[in-house]
Amino acid sequence: MVVGSGPLPLTALCIGSTLDVRVTCVERDAECHDLGRQLIAMSGLEHKFESINADILDLTELDGHDAIVGVVLLGVSTDGQQENTKATIAQHIIDRMLPGMRMVLRDPHGLGKLLYPSVDLASSAHVDVTRHVPKIGPNHPYRSGLVVAERRMAGSGHAH
Ligand SMILES: C[S@@+](CC[C@H](N)C(=O)[O-])C[C@H]1O[C@@H](n2cnc3c(N)ncnc32)[C@H](O)[C@@H]1O
Repeated sequence: MVVGSGPLPLTALCIGSTLDVRVTCVERDAECHDLGRQLIAMSGLEHKFESINADILDLTELDGHDAIVGVVLLGVSTDGQQENTKATIAQHIIDRMLPGMRMVLRDPHGLGKLLYPSVDLASSAHVDVTRHVPKIGPNHPYRSGLVVAERRMAGSGHAH
């Protein structure tokens, strides 16, 4: 599932075109959703996609998915309200993940931090969290990395 797939669903199309998976796009804005669907149809990969016009916070059944990929970067400022919104979305997803499921969020890095809010996700009794920061060039000018939260199997201890 790709959350916030947008009018130009590049992340969803990259996943759908490179992996042997079905992709469910979730986009809350009706116009963005419609444009995204048109581009997916033009890609010739429509058979691999499902598209839902909804706010992720209104979806309560996420358990049919291996991974939830959140591309809701929420620009164009980093004020507290946006951080709260992104954190709310992250918690909404984590609360509905089954053991073994993963949530993958874009995580601003370098210059990206000027534009987009980060989410202070930490490993807990429920999830293991790992961050992947791209290292490109001497100053690492890439603008976003990834943070991955994996729901723990029942009874498993904390990862180290
Ligand atoms: C960065 S854009 C799209 C991604 C980008 N085109 C890509 O694939 O690289 C983020 C999208 O998230 C959508 N969005 C924001 N909050 C959302 C929410 N709570 N539920 C679903 N979609 C949301 C916005 O409407 C926007 O179209």
